Amino acid sequence: MGDPRLLEIANPISLDLIASQEVQLLIDDLLDTMYTVNGAGLAAPQIGVNKQLVVFGFDKNPRYPLAEGVPETILINPVITPLSDVQEEDWEGCLSVPGIRGKVPRYIKIRYQGYDRDGQPIDRTVEGFHARVVQHECDHLIGKLYPMRVKDFSNFGFTEVLFPNLQDSPPAE
Ligand code: NI
Repeated sequence: MGDPRLLEIANPISLDLIASQEVQLLIDDLLDTMYTVNGAGLAAPQIGVNKQLVVFGFDKNPRYPLAEGVPETILINPVITPLSDVQEEDWEGCLSVPGIRGKVPRYIKIRYQGYDRDGQPIDRTVEGFHARVVQHECDHLIGKLYPMRVKDFSNFGFTEVLFPNLQDSPPAE
């Protein structure tokens, strides 16, 4: 947080470049980084690349019993459509804002569309933690970090203070 590259609008990826070595290596780099730091997701601007590319995925984890699993997804040029006006606040963390958690309002049900690493269309309707992760990641493509979405800063603080027991701590990203 504080790096101006996190505040930019990311550029779409031309569909005929998805198969290029540059984009495929970027996808591998994002996945490697996400798994190395145990994140639930990662967006290209977080590693300094101003492209519309996010990855996410999360096995149901005994460390975070409250979060359901999300399938590993590579999502290029995403478009999100809220399917309900209803938003719900829940905890989020971000690999670009380490050591902090905050409660963020997000749409509870969304449709998201985009392309996978083979250039095939993705079109899913999701709810809950899956919908939250997608909204968080796609915010990185429009220069938004989750603290900019926090409404009530009484629910914002250091992870180890808010959640002294690790098993109660929500996942980051
Ligand atoms: Ni993030």
